[in-house]
Amino acid sequence: MTAFTVVVVLVVAAAGLLRWRRPAWYWLTFGVALATLRVLVRYSSVMDACGLTVPPSRWRLALARVANRDVPQSRPPRILRIRPTRTGLVLRLGLRPGQDAFDVAAASDRLRHSFGLYGVTSRELRSGVVEVRMTGYDVLKRVQMPAGTDTRPMRVPVALREDGSVHYRDYRAVPHGLTLGATESGKSVYQRNLVAGFAPLDVALVGIDCKQGVELFPLARRFSALADNPDTALALLEALVAHMEDVYQLIRAEQRITVDVPDIEIAADIFDLPADLRPVPIVVLVDEVAELALFATKEDEKRRDRIITALVRLAQLGRAAGIYLEICGQRFGSELGKGITMLRAQLTGRTAHRVNDESSASMAFGDISPDAVLAAIQIPTETPGIAVTGDSSGGWTRIRAPHTSLREAVNICNKHAERTPDLPALAAFRPAVALLPSARVPLSKTAPATV
Ligand SMILES: Nc1ncnc2c1ncn2[C@@H]1O[C@H](COP(=O)(O)OP(=O)(O)OP(=O)(O)O)[C@@H](O)[C@H]1O
Ligand SMILES: [Mg+2]
Repeated sequence: MTAFTVVVVLVVAAAGLLRWRRPAWYWLTFGVALATLRVLVRYSSVMDACGLTVPPSRWRLALARVANRDVPQSRPPRILRIRPTRTGLVLRLGLRPGQDAFDVAAASDRLRHSFGLYGVTSRELRSGVVEVRMTGYDVLKRVQMPAGTDTRPMRVPVALREDGSVHYRDYRAVPHGLTLGATESGKSVYQRNLVAGFAPLDVALVGIDCKQGVELFPLARRFSALADNPDTALALLEALVAHMEDVYQLIRAEQRITVDVPDIEIAADIFDLPADLRPVPIVVLVDEVAELALFATKEDEKRRDRIITALVRLAQLGRAAGIYLEICGQRFGSELGKGITMLRAQLTGRTAHRVNDESSASMAFGDISPDAVLAAIQIPTETPGIAVTGDSSGGWTRIRAPHTSLREAVNICNKHAERTPDLPALAAFRPAVALLPSARVPLSKTAPATV
């Protein structure tokens, strides 16, 4: 008996310790079974307390009266499926007549603490069927991406969502993206995760990093072209526009539409071309975009206008030629001059890290979802990397990218360096990798002399 008590005490202590120090392990060992049991046992009473039941229908009442039985009880939504996951539980509910998905969404906070879980979100799968995703712990506190993610061409896993699912950046569904955030909010780490995600794929990476290249140049071995100042950026963007025009010529030459050509074989973008002719897709990563739009002299202004024009053209026409833009900056509003709002309107995928004021958040979500603006302002300073991401359909969610260090990203890029495609159109901008690592300039040589 005493041995049994000792074992029980030890197990309870181990569970408590795991729950405190390693919530992910606790969930996999104890949490998932306990939570499943709790949800199934408490289901009817919780649904009743949360106002998610419907009174018995007339025919059930009539039947009870005829059979002289008790009045039937109100009924909660049917559980169609309950599925434990790595981070929580997924419940599929069949709604009763008179209920709608909004009822469940509105009750999600009440469900969260009634079931003793960390987070609850819901979405309608089809008419009358709602999926409720519950997380057992704060999955964004220490992001661990699942080992098996579903990578497809032009789609990379980049972060974890608050409901425990993987957030993918899918360039074929949402070709261009804008990432905003105050300084030290995690934009460059997010972009680094994208580079690490693309490194093993057949994609050409092009980078423009006006912070003198500190973020992207260490990853140079996986980049087909890089620019670290606005002058080179202009030349690079114009070369990309010329490349885009060549790709369109190629697509046109391949179309040769006659009545015999089946619909499916008519090429309208590079992915419709035969594999041997298909140009490699290009992802253009721009960090600190405001640097490209600022100017001090008349000359700079001309350069700035040409840069913005090239970016707008790439955003408007690039998708079918397989050119995708991923733009990062602290703010991206009309105060940066003409053409900016036009460019912003083309960037469908919006992500906002912590921002300092409402107007910065509005630059990402003002024209999409007012709730997302509020959520972006509420991100606390002590959790860099947490971001709100939305799309033009009005939906949004909180995400956090894994903390990939620069060293890890460099290792991944070096490992896949042989995948870096040579693009003849951008050959002039290919970084000279041999010269990269150790150009250590003593700071005193560059710093102004002190008096
Ligand atoms: N997803 C994350 N998880 C944990 N820590 C993070 C995450 N993202 C960023 N950080 C931390 O925040 C710091 C700043 O991140 P990062 O350099 O990406 O910010 P930034 O928005 O690019 O800033 P700046 O505008 O100054 O370039 C990083 O050094 C890292 O320690
Ligand atoms: Mg940065």
